[in-house]
Amino acid sequence: MVGPVLPSLDADLRADLVSLEAQDRIRSCPAASGLSRTAPTIDAQPLLSFCSNDYLGLSGHPALASAAAAAIARSGLGAGASRLIAGDLPEHRELEAALSTFLDVEAVLLFPSGYQTNLGVLCALAGPGDLILCDHANHASIIDACRLSRARPTFYRHLDLSSAEKRLLALAPNARRRFLVTESLFGMDGDVAPLAELKALARKHGAALVVDEAHALGVLGPGGRGLCHEAGVTPDVLIGTLGKAFGAAGGFAAGSATLRKYLLNRSRSFIFTTAPPPSVAAAALAALQIIRGDEGQARREALADRVLQLRSRLPSKSSALPCSPILPIILGPDRAAVAASRALRANGFFVQPIRPPTVPEGTARLRVTLSASHRPEDVDSFAQALAPFIPQ
Ligand SMILES: Cc1ncc(COP(=O)(O)O)c(C=O)c1O
Repeated sequence: MVGPVLPSLDADLRADLVSLEAQDRIRSCPAASGLSRTAPTIDAQPLLSFCSNDYLGLSGHPALASAAAAAIARSGLGAGASRLIAGDLPEHRELEAALSTFLDVEAVLLFPSGYQTNLGVLCALAGPGDLILCDHANHASIIDACRLSRARPTFYRHLDLSSAEKRLLALAPNARRRFLVTESLFGMDGDVAPLAELKALARKHGAALVVDEAHALGVLGPGGRGLCHEAGVTPDVLIGTLGKAFGAAGGFAAGSATLRKYLLNRSRSFIFTTAPPPSVAAAALAALQIIRGDEGQARREALADRVLQLRSRLPSKSSALPCSPILPIILGPDRAAVAASRALRANGFFVQPIRPPTVPEGTARLRVTLSASHRPEDVDSFAQALAPFIPQ
């Protein structure tokens, strides 16, 4: 049987794009170039960027570049297949061992990205009949993992323990496995989860705690070990990324040796994908060595200074902003965020507007991020340009 005649796919897609455009929601990738993520050239214009996740300024560090070059010479460029097929390369093993020591866990399993880590972990551990309790502001990779797992997802109000407990009381008794999933430092809001209280809540209701430390590792906590370490909380699974403070790429799950063995056997986003390039793993290991040492400490201190400096230069209303390298300037309508971003760009600053669905409807924002590689004078001039956009 022949179905109804559809307009061409392209015509259909064009109509959707026109509607995105009309909502100020169209996205594009600007043409960026250069070694620095804080002083890039964007569409042929040199700018100061305040929106990358290169919190420690490591992405252009020569130690990462030379570790990557040495790994290419030693182990080639591509991994060739999944590690289960092509085998573990020394760079994968060394990085996993070093991360395990750094985080004081039994074992770590690398994934090609943080996104794939969240998909791989939650879909392996949870399934039909299970419950995943999620903070409302959790990253899209966690939300997508919940959907794909076919477990029952339920969302509590951002950082709200009583909202979380209400859901656990109502839904946990009928669930087989239960998971409580949160970011530690929230990527779009810059605020921090009450990790000790969430751990207690999880324990009380027989739930496993999964904490995504994508934005905190390397940056916060003792020696950059993250907010779980700072809170004295051992989650059942700790998720990390290597593309933010580590300046490289990739993600990992950290926990028990049993967890690693299980994920290696059951995580589809580990099994059915090519392993991370050994050069990238070697660069991440070089970043970890910096993070653990004096230079990492100095970079964390420089970053903390820049955060205080920016907050002190902004209008008093901004004292409500979190004291973290992620400062959300919430402007509301998409149009306002797009206009503010354009105006800043005309003044030499690059801060991309963040709009739904990345953030909830009506909370479009400038997500300002700071880096250890911003110079104090960069922060001063940026503060001046940003001040008029701080809502009164
Ligand atoms: C909390 C969180 N988890 C995971 C990811 C995904 O990490 P990756 O960029 O390595 O895929 C992100 C990315 O922004 C994130 O913010």
